[in-house]
Amino acid sequence: MNVTQAEFVISAVGPAQYPEEGLPEIALAGRSNVGKSSLINKMIQRKNLARTSSQPGKTQTLNFYKINGELYFVDLPGYGYAKVSRTQREQWGKFIEQYLLQRDRLRLLLLLVDARHPPTRDDVSMYDWLTHFSIPVCVVATKADKIPRSQWQKHVKQVKETLFMRGSDPLVLFSSETGLGKDELWAIIQQHTEV
Ligand code: GTP
Ligand code: MG
Repeated sequence: MNVTQAEFVISAVGPAQYPEEGLPEIALAGRSNVGKSSLINKMIQRKNLARTSSQPGKTQTLNFYKINGELYFVDLPGYGYAKVSRTQREQWGKFIEQYLLQRDRLRLLLLLVDARHPPTRDDVSMYDWLTHFSIPVCVVATKADKIPRSQWQKHVKQVKETLFMRGSDPLVLFSSETGLGKDELWAIIQQHTEV
């Protein structure tokens, strides 16, 4: 995919603010700090359109980025961030759940996990939840640049096994630093956004 146009459209706090042109949407979920915003930036070749931070919990709204006038990336708030209150966490949960269950133009959910470590309990619950509701999911194992190439396959296997991944769901090993996995991920996204 040759991205010629990418713009931030809106930070939504509820369905009334979701964009209305009916373009397909690719959402990104994962733990706080796993690299969701960085992945968007890498996919569209922009340094900092999606705001990234070494401080977890930065993205707290649904952020819509319009790509080539063809599709949206929807950056969801990260889960599993310890330093927020329980009520706040529950609110985020409801908010994300509402989007994931009710948004009919959601075509694919990219579930980001940290390639370096086995997926967490939160990651496993998220994957289970998505499959339970038949939401198409692509697992993206990020920060691969931090693992020696000789160990990539071992880590991929660990992610697949810990999530009990279905064979039909794709897994992409990714790095926002090196661009590893970028073309593969674009190909998967295009399969899901073509009409
Ligand atoms: P929240 O918005 O808090 O949910 O976080 P996020 O998932 O959007 O993470 P973000 O993209 O802000 O990245 C968090 C930190 O990880 C930043 O310091 C990034 O530079 C770093 N990071 C993200 N992706 C990669 C990667 O592929 N490789 C390396 N080495 N660092 C990465
Ligand atoms: Mg973010």
